[in-house]
Amino acid sequence: MEQIVYVSTSRSLPDERLLDGILAVSRRNNARDGLTGLLVVGGRRFLQVLEGPCDLCDAAYARIRADERHFALVQLSRRPLIERSFAGWHMGFEQGYANPLVSVVEQLTDRVADPYLQAQFRSFAELHSQPA
Ligand SMILES: Cc1cc2nc3c(=O)[nH]c(=O)nc-3n(C[C@H](O)[C@H](O)[C@H](O)COP(=O)(O)O)c2cc1C
Repeated sequence: MEQIVYVSTSRSLPDERLLDGILAVSRRNNARDGLTGLLVVGGRRFLQVLEGPCDLCDAAYARIRADERHFALVQLSRRPLIERSFAGWHMGFEQGYANPLVSVVEQLTDRVADPYLQAQFRSFAELHSQPA
């Protein structure tokens, strides 16, 4: 198994329609492929972690990279994984408008054992908690 973490920028300010579309396809494909993870949206920025079998994780990331709804993808890490951090979620999701992104992400990553991954999500939430 492996884990990929990346950030990207949405071409438009993500609205409900865009996010619902991304999430529906993600959850369907990820359930089929045994992928799990978390997608956090702050303003126009995405931060996503994907984890699962290497070939399927790479294939999903290749599709995501080719998606024209976002750009400037930066892969923050890609590494072997022994234990999943988001085992329960084919794609957990959070957007920080209704609730403060910082505290929601804090809760979502509460049980993430890897302090580096936890810090990535928490500092992203701090940086992008206002719609941009
Ligand atoms: C920010 C973002 C995150 C995405 N996350 C996933 C994902 O976790 N899994 C996935 O299959 N597709 C994801 N997608 C959608 C893919 O880019 C692509 O549209 C989709 O995988 C195509 O699937 P299909 O060939 O079944 O239509 C994401 C797209 C964006 C913009």
